[in-house]
Amino acid sequence: MDRKTFMISLCSAMALGCLRAQSAPSAPAKKALIVYFSWSGNTRGIAKKIKSITGADIAELELEKPYSRNYNTCLDEALSDQKKRARPKLKNSFENLGDYGSILLGYPNWWASIPMPIATFLESYDFKGKSIIPFCSHGGGRLGQSVSAIAKLCPGSPIKTPLSVHYSGGRSLAKDLDEWLTKNGLK
Ligand SMILES: Cc1cc2nc3c(=O)[nH]c(=O)nc-3n(C[C@H](O)[C@H](O)[C@H](O)COP(=O)(O)O)c2cc1C
Repeated sequence: MDRKTFMISLCSAMALGCLRAQSAPSAPAKKALIVYFSWSGNTRGIAKKIKSITGADIAELELEKPYSRNYNTCLDEALSDQKKRARPKLKNSFENLGDYGSILLGYPNWWASIPMPIATFLESYDFKGKSIIPFCSHGGGRLGQSVSAIAKLCPGSPIKTPLSVHYSGGRSLAKDLDEWLTKNGLK
């Protein structure tokens, strides 16, 4: 091959490489999944509203042995579970968590922290590299210690801006969700 033919071949190969690089399909952006636990329905309502805004997939954590429907009994059961670091068994299993890049994690503030079913969920799967975006319904204690409890359970995951919602959120819920989702790049 003479010098001129070599240069032409080299240029053609480079151009083809460029074209190939441009037309290579880029990896699809990973989706967000809403996962929540709710005892009296407030977190469920907020989670559904987030789904209607974002179109994200959604799953409610369900227990093999649910907490009592009696408020005072539930308070006792939840406190006992928290003290003994119980991991109540979930009915759910998630086989496709690899499809998701972020988890919008919803729960009620229970005894100033997460309900133990949230700990079961976080310990059951590998969340390394996935963003966790907490949202918490509360009766006055806001997020309590819940965010640090989550961070301890999944040390390889960035925890993004959390949202606390008073009970079901009232009239400002739509605006609060809008601002929070925008902050977290989900709108
Ligand atoms: C077992 C239990 C413990 C709770 N502990 C707290 C608490 O420490 N601080 C607080 O602000 N609210 C507390 N609450 C109130 C709930 O966070 C609040 O009612 C919330 O809206 C319930 O959400 P849910 O309807 O999704 O279950 C507690 C409620 C229950 C049932």
